[in-house]
Amino acid sequence: MVVHTELLPEPLPREPLAVARQWLEQAWAARAQPNANSMVLATSTRDGRPSARVVLCKDIVPEPGYLVFYTNFRSQKGRQLRDNPRAAGVLHWDALHRQVRVEGPVVTAPESDSDAYFASRAWQSRIGAWASEQSQPLASRAQLLEAVTDTARRLGAPIPGSPGVADSLQVTIPRPPHWGGYRLWADTVELWVEGAARIHDRARWTRTLDPAAGGTFQSSAWTATRLQP
Ligand SMILES: Cc1cc2nc3c(=O)[nH]c(=O)nc-3n(C[C@H](O)[C@H](O)[C@H](O)COP(=O)(O)O)c2cc1C
Repeated sequence: MVVHTELLPEPLPREPLAVARQWLEQAWAARAQPNANSMVLATSTRDGRPSARVVLCKDIVPEPGYLVFYTNFRSQKGRQLRDNPRAAGVLHWDALHRQVRVEGPVVTAPESDSDAYFASRAWQSRIGAWASEQSQPLASRAQLLEAVTDTARRLGAPIPGSPGVADSLQVTIPRPPHWGGYRLWADTVELWVEGAARIHDRARWTRTLDPAAGGTFQSSAWTATRLQP
């Protein structure tokens, strides 16, 4: 495994998300953790009660500057994002001694992106997206398995877990309207690198995002500041 020990460049790069994206690619290449794209996502209620959970960061798009994740819009995080459409995300690569923090407004991804990503998922996951009312209570695990079986029958698909059906099975399952992508637009990004003798290296980039048409933002240039670790 390659361990990257270089500190942040001096002067700091003009924009941070290309670096974050490169770090993500290096984390995949290093194979030091199975889900190199796992991201802790923090949301909060309108009255400021935070909650956090792991989601998979499916893309980092440096220009115009957002991260993408997929979920159930009716989940706890989905409800919080409807009430308070801002979030914070943290990607941490322990073995590579690096952390990325991102904060900013969240908008739903275009339907075409959600459709394309949903269609790329394994058929069992697509059935699961219909069967699971994510974040709602369940009387028992059996209740969920029954919902999965009923859903598979309704969609004309095999029952997940039944023997001999390949993950790669081609079966048409439409995307549930309550499942799709979000874009976390970055107005604040921090890159952190572990330094020798525990003198770590840290910098923050900020910019202003003004809402524009079609769920996008007009952005100012980034301002970069090195921070005490
Ligand atoms: C490694 C890992 C990856 C996960 N990826 C996702 C994901 O991409 N989308 C998602 O909705 N939940 C994902 N989860 C489950 C979430 O952590 C969480 O349990 C779920 O989204 C419900 O959260 P909520 O009730 O706060 O909305 C993942 C969990 C783990 C441990």
